[in-house]
Amino acid sequence: MTTADLATDRFSVVLREATREEHERTESSRFVAELLDGKLDRRAYVALLEQSYLFYSVLEEAGDRWRGDEIVGPFVSDALLRRGALEADLSWLSGSRWRDGLVTLPATQRYIDRLREVCFTSRGAFVAHHYTRYLGDLSGGQIIRSKLRSIYGLTRDGVRFYLFDEIPKPKVFKDGYRELLDSTPWAAGERTTLLGEANEAFRLNRGVFDDLSAGC
Ligand code: HEM
Repeated sequence: MTTADLATDRFSVVLREATREEHERTESSRFVAELLDGKLDRRAYVALLEQSYLFYSVLEEAGDRWRGDEIVGPFVSDALLRRGALEADLSWLSGSRWRDGLVTLPATQRYIDRLREVCFTSRGAFVAHHYTRYLGDLSGGQIIRSKLRSIYGLTRDGVRFYLFDEIPKPKVFKDGYRELLDSTPWAAGERTTLLGEANEAFRLNRGVFDDLSAGC
């Protein structure tokens, strides 16, 4: 954090600081560590994509709900959408009948239930979940992508989830996203909702990693 950030008390900075601890816990999950170490087999990687498909489908349905909204509509960007990429990866890795064996893990169910409970009615909660996943995909996700390339030699097919063709410069996009967080005319209490729900989003993601680890 720079002195200027502290002086202006930017909401995006407050959010990053408020979720720092949960982020650290999440990125040091056993499943994530094994993924980065190249210790996961193909089945575990496919399981990660399957669970991601399930919760991204609901997150992106919520995005459709808010598309065009005058307050949070600007967060909804087609360049971020991951559902189609996950479908393509799963078809490539498991064949066209990949949906047949799809099992929703208990933690994924809890995640989906929470998304349905809060993201269709609360702008702050929606952005909390949107931020946690997509800014993560554009940050740590890109580190995972380079690992998948060096460990498994996957550059496009099977790792489309990590490729944002329409976002050539993630840093520029993330800076714009943070400016949006700062300039959005949030209603009273909405920032507090967002901060609490972003921490919840990290915990829910960690739950999915824990369930995936337990199944390995
Ligand atoms: C492989 C494990 C991970 C690593 C190495 C990692 C690393 C990073 C790094 C270096 C940043 C800072 C990027 C920047 O300032 O532009 C970042 C930001 C972020 N990460 Fe992660 N991350 C990981 C996993 C995750 C996971 C699993 C999530 C969520 C489920 C997540 C959510 C976020 C978010 C929301 C940000 C944006 C913070 C902000 O600037 O407001 N990360 N991550």
